[in-house]
Amino acid sequence: MPRLSRHYDVSNRFYELVLGSSMTYTCAVHPDAEASLETAQAAQYDLVARKLELEPGFRLLDVGCGWGGMVMGAGEHYGVKALGATLSQQQAEWAQKAIAGRGLADRAEVRLLDYRDVPESGFDAVSSIGLTEHIGRRQLGAYFWRLAAKLRPVGRLLNHCITRPTTRERARIGGFFDRYVFSDGELLGVGTVVSPMQNHGLEPRHSENLREHYAMTCRDWGENLEANWEEAIAEVGLRRARVWQLYIAASRVGFEINNIELHQVLGVKLGRGGFSCMPLRPSF
Ligand SMILES: C[S@@+](CC[C@H](N)C(=O)[O-])C[C@H]1O[C@@H](n2cnc3c(N)ncnc32)[C@H](O)[C@@H]1O
Repeated sequence: MPRLSRHYDVSNRFYELVLGSSMTYTCAVHPDAEASLETAQAAQYDLVARKLELEPGFRLLDVGCGWGGMVMGAGEHYGVKALGATLSQQQAEWAQKAIAGRGLADRAEVRLLDYRDVPESGFDAVSSIGLTEHIGRRQLGAYFWRLAAKLRPVGRLLNHCITRPTTRERARIGGFFDRYVFSDGELLGVGTVVSPMQNHGLEPRHSENLREHYAMTCRDWGENLEANWEEAIAEVGLRRARVWQLYIAASRVGFEINNIELHQVLGVKLGRGGFSCMPLRPSF
């Protein structure tokens, strides 16, 4: 089984038990301290949509789309036509069923596809939520160049990923995480992410660190796993359930004490003469 599949194609049911009904495997954005995980995940997609200034009729490409949360939310609430790409077969199947079930087939589509193989271009916006961790430092320039090539002039990219607090640390995740959770992942300081972005066709316009929100998200995932412990063991076995328990708890502490961060960086592909089509001040 390819390494990525070992992590994502475990069991959709297990992910439902941990992630809850939003089936979103990334940092939520909590509007207040009491917000539920579902509310916070909807707010996260909404923040991405507002940063991209999605409008009815826009075409959105969501790379690393997971179970399709962004493409469904954007199609449903912003009237865009959204295409998602994931390398996980189980995610693609789950998303395709959910899209049909929610009557969104005319606005949302998820394909089992490497983001590099998406044939369409000229998108109004691209979102990348939790994919950059899989790309690696050496490939980042090509990654941003490819995403820029998918955009029409003045189209925007919102890149959302886990980062390190400085650019001096090693990129490899290593240790327990590398061995049992995320093989081959790399985490980089936000400066290391932004440099190839600006060198490969995208003007960085805004950056935001949401690490406290990711700590809260991990808290909520940990509570979900605890509440569904017996079913989780039945689904994936005690060993894997314990690995997840530790992985979620360690990640929560990592975000709290600033060993890891979560950055959203907004970039724009400039039009002729440096035209950005950005408002004078952000509206999000
Ligand atoms: C942490 S998950 C984030 C999923 C989703 N964006 C979310 O927020 O729930 C990372 C996603 O990146 C996808 N992925 C990794 N490498 C990819 C590639 N080369 N092309 C397309 N998707 C990829 C995985 O299949 C997975 O869906």
